[in-house]
Amino acid sequence: MFERIHVGVAWPYANGRLHLGHIAGAYLPADIFARFNRLIGNEVIMVSGSDQHGAPITIRAEKENTTPDAIAQKYHSQFVECWEKLGISWDLYTTTGTANHAEVTQDIFLTLLSKGYLYKDSVLQAYCPSCQRFLPDRYVLGSCPNCASVNARGDECESCGKPLDPVELGDPRCVLCGGPPRFEMSEHFFLRLSAFQDRLTAWVNGMTHWRQNVIGATRRFLNEGLRDRAITRDINWGVPVPLPGYEGKRIYVWFEAVIGYLSATKEWAKLQGDPSLWERYWKQDARIYNFIGKDNIFFHTLSWPATLMAYGDLNLPYDVPSNEFLNIEGQKLSTSRNWAVWVDDYLERYDPDPLRYFLAAAMPETQDSDFSWEKFVHRNNDELVATYGNLAHRVLTFTHRHFGAVVPDPGELDGQSQQLLADAERTLRDVRDALERCSFKEGLRHVMALAQKANRYLDDQAPWKSIKQSREVAGRSVYTVMCVLSTLSTVLSPYLPFSSEVLHRSLGFGGTLQERGWKVVTPRPGQALGEAKPLFVKLDDTVIAEETARLGT
Ligand code: MF3
Ligand code: ZN
Repeated sequence: MFERIHVGVAWPYANGRLHLGHIAGAYLPADIFARFNRLIGNEVIMVSGSDQHGAPITIRAEKENTTPDAIAQKYHSQFVECWEKLGISWDLYTTTGTANHAEVTQDIFLTLLSKGYLYKDSVLQAYCPSCQRFLPDRYVLGSCPNCASVNARGDECESCGKPLDPVELGDPRCVLCGGPPRFEMSEHFFLRLSAFQDRLTAWVNGMTHWRQNVIGATRRFLNEGLRDRAITRDINWGVPVPLPGYEGKRIYVWFEAVIGYLSATKEWAKLQGDPSLWERYWKQDARIYNFIGKDNIFFHTLSWPATLMAYGDLNLPYDVPSNEFLNIEGQKLSTSRNWAVWVDDYLERYDPDPLRYFLAAAMPETQDSDFSWEKFVHRNNDELVATYGNLAHRVLTFTHRHFGAVVPDPGELDGQSQQLLADAERTLRDVRDALERCSFKEGLRHVMALAQKANRYLDDQAPWKSIKQSREVAGRSVYTVMCVLSTLSTVLSPYLPFSSEVLHRSLGFGGTLQERGWKVVTPRPGQALGEAKPLFVKLDDTVIAEETARLGT
């Protein structure tokens, strides 16, 4: 079975550092999925880029006395470095600041306009005279008409949850200067989202493979009824509106950023030297997956699909595996309170695979989950080091010592050894089945169950004892565990790409796991082993106190 898989991952805002919530929410599951699909022989492209537009970045630039572009570039290069070190295997990681992206966005804008899916309307927009700028909805505060909270935001009231319009607020004030805004008429383009209510409902009803949380959230939006939405803003940073007379306006960041999935595919195709290659994923038979956090659901399951339907002849997303949130030490992650673990900090001090392991094992797939340094250290020490790493280390060093660093000849396999090899075969199937369904935690549980079985087998067989009577019997046990290790390196390679390749070489295999593909490959008796490098390092318990002390300061 051969399929084309497009993996598009939420475009992170280029105005702040990446934290573990980003990784657990979208980038890690996407990367595991892309790596797995490449291994089983699918044609895969994984793309995303930095989302560099929007009001927050312009406001931040003003505060720091610099340009939005400088901020975007600073974070973009920081992100690229994190991806590299964390092993996020992009086919293309770009930005929304490219000429290509503007071109693709403007083409979609003009096509929708000519088809009647965009229309002009005038709206009252908050303008702050002292800041001399139009204010985005959430930059206006005031009292809520519904619950009378005095700190309601112009887009919604956080205390009663009611969606609001800034004009409805009592005593409105500007978030930036505290002064009163005035309301001015401003002309904007609206996307006729209401026209897609029925088509989107029918389409969503057919998506029976979506996660419950994604279906549920999407149905709630549909039940409330889709309203037309303004897709331009009064701002001077973003993709220009391709019409004369709109120089002071830009296309709304959320309308434009999702277009990145398509524009990045086109950019990738050009880089491949065949600009038409993008059509393989967007016009031919292919499955498009969008990995996102739960706050992005509306834009991926409704407004972007509506844009695609309006444009016509392009594939819609096949699945939108959205994760819930990752808490930190039992509390909601907050970047402003520094209640977060920053990816660049983490990578300065520790290896990527233990983080990938923890976040995959505790992935917020169906509900919010928690990262704590204590659990991180213990999972590293008890599961990666003690269960998996030690299994490899024990067998490899033993073979170096007693069998001249070559894979022993197993002779005839006994029942227990055959059983373990059958377990390995089954694990390969089970992990595949889980990963095809984007059940990343489940996949990892199957893997670790096999590692535990192999440990019990090794303790039972105790080749360090049997070698005193029979090299053959000891060789058989060692060989059997090496077969399991070979399978473990394969099924773990989407999760733990770095340590899996190390083990692959230690077992004496040439080439890469990627080239080998998703199958059981047994080492050949007589095969020369590589160096027996430890796969993971044990972390001292002092790490827990040290790291927790950095939180919230
Ligand atoms: N920048 C947005 C966020 O961080 C995500 C945009 S996803 C996109 O929440 F697909 F729209 F780009
Ligand atoms: Zn102001």
